[in-house]
Order: sequence, then structure tokens, then C-alpha cells
Amino acid sequence: MKLFSQVADLHECLDGLRAQKKSVGLVPTMGYLHEGHLSLVERSNEENDVTVTTIFVNPLQFAEGEDLASYPSDLQSDTELCEKIGSDVLFIPSLQDMYPEPILTSVQVDDFTKRMEGESRPTHFAGVATVVAKLFNITGPCNAYFGEKDWQQLQVITKMVRDLSFRVCVIGCPIIRHRDGLALSSRNAYLTTDERQSATVLSRSLQKASDLIRAGETSSVDIQKLIEREVASEPLVELDYVETVDGSSLIPVDEIVPGTRILIAAAVGKARLIDNIDAFTGITGFSS
Ligand code: PAF
Repeated sequence: MKLFSQVADLHECLDGLRAQKKSVGLVPTMGYLHEGHLSLVERSNEENDVTVTTIFVNPLQFAEGEDLASYPSDLQSDTELCEKIGSDVLFIPSLQDMYPEPILTSVQVDDFTKRMEGESRPTHFAGVATVVAKLFNITGPCNAYFGEKDWQQLQVITKMVRDLSFRVCVIGCPIIRHRDGLALSSRNAYLTTDERQSATVLSRSLQKASDLIRAGETSSVDIQKLIEREVASEPLVELDYVETVDGSSLIPVDEIVPGTRILIAAAVGKARLIDNIDAFTGITGFSS
């Protein structure tokens, strides 16, 4: 595995590979890698000649008072995991390398970013879209891989790519979960033992909702109420939102139909956790 920290060196390497007609798959991450990230690398390995994994904790997507300074990090373990899973290139730029001068340009994807995560974190998606646009320009990938756990992020990036004609195919990969249903997330590291146990209410309530939907329930209001009740039964979990939306446009729906996605976010201790399901599929993707 080749390790790079400077944009110019990475450019030189990738230009050489592209000259040999090698296809590049990109896996952008903020590090503290878990099985969810590794599943993206594996998928990229299957579908591209070369996989580039990036680790960069992007300050633009954190607001004042969020966990930028405490975001979990273990670059040694990340490097070993990337090597083991077969990433060809690992790019860990410094802040100075990514933003050598104050950045005056920002990519804003309207509408898609107004609700849900965007309501609690109004500047978040502009930060995500801007850094992902930069990473696309830096690495020139054919395919880029993102986890479906961040469903809204996946739709925002997909829309950005369509609107700005990036020549990259955005590929969403299934959520990977612990055996008890909790979606893998670097932020799970913030949870105490009790909070970790309580956090399973997120996936459990989504599963109950999906069971009801498959039994014939179609009312978004009733499904949201069911989830609110379930989450309220866990005193350590404070629900931020539960929304039933069209999975692609993210527009809220009154009636649950195929393609409806249920998204949820909650504060559990110091962690802000998100999860989602396809309304008719229920939770899947348990880790080994
Ligand atoms: O999902 C993440 O880890 C980040 O938002 C991303 C896509 C790497 C951009 O910083």
C-alpha cells in the first residue's frame, strides 16, 4: 500500500496509474475505521483497479461546539486495517494540505440539506459537499463509495454530482451493524456501557416500524408516533427527529410506499447517532 500526505505526490501517483488506463475507486473517510468503512474498501477493490482510501477530519463540516477536537482517531490502526483489507493507496492529508489558504468557495446543495441533519446542523452539508468535491478533483475517481448509514449525505453527494456533472459514479453501500442492531459508527466510541445498550433502541424502533409497514400500515404519522414512543422508553436517548421521506428526493411523504425511507437521529450521551431503513426491508447487514 502506498501512503501519501501531500496532494502533489498523490496526483503524480494517480496520473501515472490513469495513464496505464487503471480505474480508480475512492473511499473518503474521517478515519477511526470500522467494518463499515472496510466494506466500502472491499467493494471498491472488487469494482476498480486501484482503491484510494482517504482519511481527513474535515473542519468545514463541524459547527462551533461540535466534536471536531475530540473526533476519535487511531491512524496506526487505520493504516494497518487499510493495508490488510487491500487498499492500494492511503491518503492522509494535513489541514494545511487540504486548505492551504482560507477557503472562499463552498458547494451548497439546496433543499436536500434543509431538513433532518440540516436542521440541527445548518452548515454541515456545505462542508461535506465542499470537501467531497475537493477529494473528487484531487483523486479523479471513476467510482466513489459512501455508506448508507449517512443516507441524507449520500443523496446530497449524488445530487451534487448530477448538478455539477462530476464524472464519477456515486455508490451507496449497505449499513453494517453490530449483532444487536446498532449501526457501526466511529461516534459509538463516545458511548458508555449503559448508553451503548440504550442506543439499540434506534434500530429496534426502525425494525418495529418496518414490521408494521409490512403488515399493512401506510400512515407516516402513525409510524413516526410508534418510533417516538419506542425511543421515549429509553431515558438515555433523546430523539432529535424521525422522518419518513422519499428515499431519493428526501421529500417527506404522508403515505408509506415502496421507496420510502425512514430516518432517525438521537443524542445518546455525548454521541449524536443516526440510522435509517428502507421502509419495506427492515434492518439488515449484521457484522461477522
Ligand atoms: O461520511 C464521512 O465520513 C464524511 O462526511 C466524508 C464523506 C468523508 C466527508 O468528510
